[in-house]
Amino acid sequence: MTAGRPRPSPRCATLSRMKRFLALLLTLCAVAQATTVAEVKKKGVLVLGTDPTFTPFEFKGADGQIQGFDIDIARAVAKDLGVKLEIRAVGFGALMPQSVTSGRVDMAVSGITITAERAKIVSFSAPYYRSAQVFIVKQGNPSRFGWPWNSAMKGKTIGVQANTTGQYVANDLLKPRGAVIKVYDDFAAGLADVRAGRIAALIGDAPTVADLQKRLPGQFQQAGSALAAEDYGMVFKKNSDLAAAANKTLARLRSSGEYQALLNKWIVQK
Ligand code: ARG
Repeated sequence: MTAGRPRPSPRCATLSRMKRFLALLLTLCAVAQATTVAEVKKKGVLVLGTDPTFTPFEFKGADGQIQGFDIDIARAVAKDLGVKLEIRAVGFGALMPQSVTSGRVDMAVSGITITAERAKIVSFSAPYYRSAQVFIVKQGNPSRFGWPWNSAMKGKTIGVQANTTGQYVANDLLKPRGAVIKVYDDFAAGLADVRAGRIAALIGDAPTVADLQKRLPGQFQQAGSALAAEDYGMVFKKNSDLAAAANKTLARLRSSGEYQALLNKWIVQK
């Protein structure tokens, strides 16, 4: 008897049909996620995607709960829509923009910088926070880093978080000047390398520096002036009317004084 490839048993065939059906179902479920105000209201929840490694905008508290400035803003949007907020932790690389474009989340609020490139594939709310990209170095700045660029920085390794505007700025401004760029999935891993002196600097968002100085005094500092100013926006599927709804909430928070109260509550004041 020749040992040919065994023919699939009827049971296997049923199983594979079931698998195909399940795959189809999963695809449909993803598509069925809400992208409009009406859909969100119908299902009664607004699904927020956020990368909770960005204190004080989004982080896990001692109790394991995801909290922060962005979370309170997102909560206000859900409240104004009359729905519950469901929070999903997503790594920044997957969050922007795939989670939003695929409909796995209805909205992403995660200190996300508004850029023209990103605005081609997702819709942004109005800006809600002014920020900047800066060099973060070890306290005392042993590598004489800073912006504007100086020739002592040539050939030095600079860390960036994958998919962030820090990475874009590094590619635009630092690589052409002779810096070596090291990409981290996890911002904290980059910080650990700065602390250990394995890299000269990390590019990060300006509020991160103030927060680090508060949480880990004497370890890190900003070096030089900002490389680029930027604004954070909430992110939605392209052309979703949720963006306009979020803008209404932002306007309400600003005029009621709640926006200022949230700044006072979460953001380290300089
Ligand atoms: N503002 C930067 C960007 O949009 C970094 C944001 C990082 N946010 C986070 N939750 N890890 O690319």
